[in-house]
Parts: sequence; structure tokens; C-alpha cells
Amino acid sequence: MVKEIGFDWNPWSLHKPNHVFVKFAISILLMGLAYRLFSPHSIGFSSVAETTPFVDKTGAPEASIPVESPVSVKVPEIEDQIPQKEKCDIFAGDWVPHPSGPIYTNESCHVMEPHQNCMSNGRPDSGYLYWRWNPRDCELPPFNAERFLELMRHKSWGFIGDSISRNHVQSLLCILSQVEQAVEVYHDEEYRSKRWHFPSYNFTLSVIWSPFLIKSAIFEDINGVSSSETQLHFDKLDKKWTDQYQSFDYMVISGGKWFLKTAIYYENNTIMGCHYCPGKNLTELGVDYAYRKALQLVFNFVMKSSHKISIFLRTATPDHFENGEWFSGGTCKRTVPFKKGEIEMKDVDKVLRNVELEEFEKVASMGSEKGVNLKLLDTTRLSLFRPDGHPGPYRQFHPFAEDENAKVQNDCLHWCLPGPIDSWNDLVMEMVVNG
Ligand SMILES: *[C@@H]1O[C@H](CO)[C@@H](O)[C@H](O)[C@H]1NC(C)=O
Ligand SMILES: *[C@@H]1O[C@H](CO)[C@@H](O)[C@H](O)[C@H]1NC(C)=O
Ligand SMILES: *[C@@H]1O[C@H](CO)[C@@H](O)[C@H](O)[C@H]1NC(C)=O
Ligand SMILES: *[C@@H]1O[C@H](CO)[C@@H](O)[C@H](O)[C@H]1NC(C)=O
Repeated sequence: MVKEIGFDWNPWSLHKPNHVFVKFAISILLMGLAYRLFSPHSIGFSSVAETTPFVDKTGAPEASIPVESPVSVKVPEIEDQIPQKEKCDIFAGDWVPHPSGPIYTNESCHVMEPHQNCMSNGRPDSGYLYWRWNPRDCELPPFNAERFLELMRHKSWGFIGDSISRNHVQSLLCILSQVEQAVEVYHDEEYRSKRWHFPSYNFTLSVIWSPFLIKSAIFEDINGVSSSETQLHFDKLDKKWTDQYQSFDYMVISGGKWFLKTAIYYENNTIMGCHYCPGKNLTELGVDYAYRKALQLVFNFVMKSSHKISIFLRTATPDHFENGEWFSGGTCKRTVPFKKGEIEMKDVDKVLRNVELEEFEKVASMGSEKGVNLKLLDTTRLSLFRPDGHPGPYRQFHPFAEDENAKVQNDCLHWCLPGPIDSWNDLVMEMVVNG
């Protein structure tokens, strides 16, 4: 039985005592930085600012909130910073039609979480299934499950991150299960961390829920409603994954949207500052500060360890909420990929990806000396072009069965299975074979 996972997909918690502020702060984050979103080249998202209610619970406009944004993020020029590669850049390319479609379906894969099982949940269109990622300068072979399992005999993989990592792992499981069914050998109480074993290949696949990668105290219930601010400790990693580090031959790490949440920042048990904490008289340190520190701590750990391992840093995943955010009626109704020039990355995603690129570049060249094979799984840009790949309202089972106008919360962040996220695994396979 697959357990329902509640709302841990929400990237931002509703902080009960002041969730209007959270809404406001997110709007400011999107608005204040988003002059680009109003440019003629971007589409759709400018309405975020118009439709987000800046009203408190009494309905009065929040005129008293100071205008200056507490967020200290600069908007970097991403395009200048793409690492130069001698080999073909498999992350530069296009989505091209793929008439033969996905290699698994809702009928042939039995490990999908219901929230991502768009087919079974009644998503009416299927065009989004018939595209594949095609690098500009080379061929990207489709994932070869038999070859992958053969290569991974007696090996172990760990995916460390948030629910997007779980989404990614389920795609991999669905692909591999066309060759052999995985046996689930572990799950935690909330079904957020899991481990599977492929008996004929002695291949072990783990997903470890660690959205911040570092030590954190999260006070959120199953519906994503928090009773207190998250506490992040920038001097300690999350033992959930470091305790298992020695057992992994490959690790896929990722961070991202959870760093946008309200949090108090600690170092050596001393409060250093915070993110979105009005009335607390603490220094706003910013998302980029936190994410950078966390990645530095991770890389410091792996570079110091004597364990030889391959590590893929998977870059931030863009969401595609339009006409609102997840909390204000945002939807994602598109049924075909964007073409070049039709979409620009949101500033929050630029900030996150920029931190990833910068921190990765600092350590990538050190890796080989230390026996660490460090690679960037740079899925951000290619994912940006797939607004059609999200469950939207079909995170629920037949959401409009009883009322075709039912108000349903949309998921425009995670990916349908099968769906565009399967291409992430084609890229992983390529990096394993040719990396
Ligand atoms: C799979 O999806 C199709 C619609 O795309 C549906 O008719 C079928 O019942 C689903 N199968 C399962 C096992 O949910
Ligand atoms: C299975 O793989 C693990 C490493 O992941 C290894 O320690 C163990 O000895 C292997 N078991 C067999 C039966 O080969
Ligand atoms: C925390 O402790 C470490 C090790 O003792 C030290 O290097 C670091 O500077 C301390 N950080 C702060 C902010 O005091
Ligand atoms: C805020 O903190 C600073 C330095 O920690 C202190 O000097 C100031 O009095 C505090 N203000 C309030 C209103 O508590």
C-alpha cells in the first residue's frame, strides 16, 4: 500500500500565526525582484502580483507593511556562468516529438505515488507524454534499464533531497521495473525516506528525505502547516544521510525551494539571523546565504571523507504556477512544451541555480584529487520548458468527477509519471556511462 503523503509537496509552509505575512513575503520576493517578469518576453506570471491578496484576515489592505523587501538576493546573469565543457553539453538542446512515448505506464509501474499518477487520476490529455529531450550537439540514447542494472550490480545509490527527489527516484524505479521489480526493504514512518533492492542485481536504491541537507528542526504537520519557524544549523549536516554516506557508490543531491521558507539560522547553537522573521529583531540573511552555506557544508564533508563516490548535484527545479501561486489559485493548464523565447526563468530559480553553479564550480576540480567524481545534473533549464508536465489538479483522483467546477489545489511543481522527469534519468544514464 502506498500511503498518502499529505501536503509535504508544498514548497512553502503556511506559518499559521502570520501566514498572511508569508504570502506577502513570497509576493514581495516574486514582485520585488521580478521586473523581468513584466517584460514582453515573459508570459503569464505577471498576474501573480495582481491576484495575490495583500489583505489580512479582516480583509483590510496591509498598508502598514514596510515596502522594503527583507530578502537579500541579487539577480545574477546565469547565462554567463554556464561551465565550459569540452564534451557535448547534454543540457543544451530541445524537446522534440517522440511518437513512441514513455517506456512505462500507470499499468506497468506500481510504485508511483498517487499524487503523481496523472494517468490514473484522470488527466484528460496525453500529448505531454510524447516528447523527449534532445541535446543540440549529440545523441542522448534512451535509458537502457538492463544495461543500467548490469552496470550497477552490487552497487548502491542514494537520492538526497525533498519530494522532488522522491519524484525523480520513482521515475527511475518505474523505468527499472520494466526489467525487474524492486523490493521495498525500508520506509520511514512518514513514507518520505525509502529503500529498494533489486534482487537479481543486488542493486540498492535509497531516497532520503532531507530537504535542507543540513541539520534542521521542522515543525510542520502532515498538511504543511507549521507551528513554529524551521531551525537550520549551518554547522551540522543532516545525519539522516551522512550516516549512510559510506554505503553509497552514487549520490544525487539537491536542495532548493525549502530554503525559501521562514527559518531561524543557527551556527554553533547561536542564532545568526533568519529568513522572513518579522518582529524578531534578527538579521535577514537571505535565501542565497542559507543555500550557499548548506552546499558548502555538504561539499566540505564529501571532500574530507576518504570514501570514493560519484556525486551528482541536481539543480533547482522550476515550478509553473500561472495566474497565482500554489496558495492563491495558481494553475498550470498548458499541454505542450514552451518554445525558445516563450518563457524566462523566475528570479527565485535563478538565485538558487546560481548558488548551485558557483558552489559546484568551486569544488568540481578538486573532486578528482579526492576520489570524488562530482558532476552537475543541470536539469533546471530543460525542465523550465515543460509547463505541461505537472499534475495540476490531477494530483488528486478524478478531481472533477463530482463537480466540474470544483476548486482544487494544483501541483505545478512536481512531475507527472510518466512525464518530463523521465528525461532526467536519460541524462543520469548518459553521465554514468560516459562520465
Ligand atoms: C491508467 O490510466 C487509464 C487512463 O489513462 C485508466 O483508464 C486506467 O484505469 C488506469 N489504470 C490504473 C491501474 O489506474
Ligand atoms: C550486495 O552489494 C553490497 C554492496 O552494495 C555488498 O556489500 C554485498 O556483499 C553484496 N551481496 C552479495 C550477495 O554479493
Ligand atoms: C563555529 O565553530 C567553528 C568550529 O569551532 C568555528 O570555526 C566557527 O567560526 C564558529 N562559527 C561561529 C559563527 O562562531
Ligand atoms: C535589536 O537588537 C539590537 C542588537 O542585538 C539591540 O541593540 C536592539 O535594542 C534590539 N531592538 C529591540 C527593539 O529589541
